[in-house]
Amino acid sequence: MSKVTVVGAGNVGATAANVIALREVADEVVMIDIKEGVSEGKAMDMMQTANLLDMNTCINGVTNYYEATANSDVVVITSGIPRKPGMTREELIGVNAGIVKQVTESVLKHSPNAVIVCVSNPMDTMTYLIHKISGLPKNRIIGMGGALDSSRFKYYLSKALNANPNEVEGFVIGGHGDTTMIPMKRYAAYRGIPVSTLLDAETLDKVVADTMVGGATLTKLLGTSAWYAPGAATAEVVEAVIHDQKCMIPCSALLEGEYGEKDLCIGVPCILGKGGIEKIVELDLNEEEKALFAKSAAAVHKTNEALPA
Ligand code: LAC
Repeated sequence: MSKVTVVGAGNVGATAANVIALREVADEVVMIDIKEGVSEGKAMDMMQTANLLDMNTCINGVTNYYEATANSDVVVITSGIPRKPGMTREELIGVNAGIVKQVTESVLKHSPNAVIVCVSNPMDTMTYLIHKISGLPKNRIIGMGGALDSSRFKYYLSKALNANPNEVEGFVIGGHGDTTMIPMKRYAAYRGIPVSTLLDAETLDKVVADTMVGGATLTKLLGTSAWYAPGAATAEVVEAVIHDQKCMIPCSALLEGEYGEKDLCIGVPCILGKGGIEKIVELDLNEEEKALFAKSAAAVHKTNEALPA
């Protein structure tokens, strides 16, 4: 039996729970929220799709009742306020740090062996905070951002190439912020063909720029933070762990010298499996990429400094 808890049954949390259930990633999914009735209602609504969609996952919703989350294999933390149009993810730090701290303590009390997937923003800093307060082995804390940013990169690449998004490869490293993420254009490919041979430099730079503000573009359109891709990207990370897939997914990981950085969580390619982050893949960055990574890391460090003591 495998069990996943999703803390926060807002748009992102509920979408993640729904995708996890539909893909039958786990036998049981528990949604927990502080808002009375929301988790229960969304779980019931999803369970009423079971016969329509041939879904065999059991979804439960509870209000603040952490006992129901006991012995989860993976706990996803989406709690906190989302950004509004014009806000950066970094501006959420004060409010969300308090929420994420309390949630982490509550979930670990009942699932001391869980792998934690952090979704709350500012995501790299919240992932770092979870490391600081939990003292868990570093492999067991995964920040989701790179999975989402990479999916957005592939989306914009597929549009520029007029290609099927499933045939496009690409990934994003660095911080999960509008100015800190680094879409790796040198490694992007269409069926193995480097996109740099298919798109002119200007088009590729536009793809990179659009990817970086991918979340902000949606926040402006929707009036709140996006949820379909963030939810599905979260489910992808959870699936890699629960099914021990050994997938390479860019995630925010605690660095201890890799990429020349330490004492921060930032997006790097990770091998995800049962143990969480089983390996950090160290790419041979060129000078331009190294400079971008160092700049991104400096910005993430700066946001971390704003964490309440
Ligand atoms: C986004 C938020 C979830 O990028 O960070 O849409």
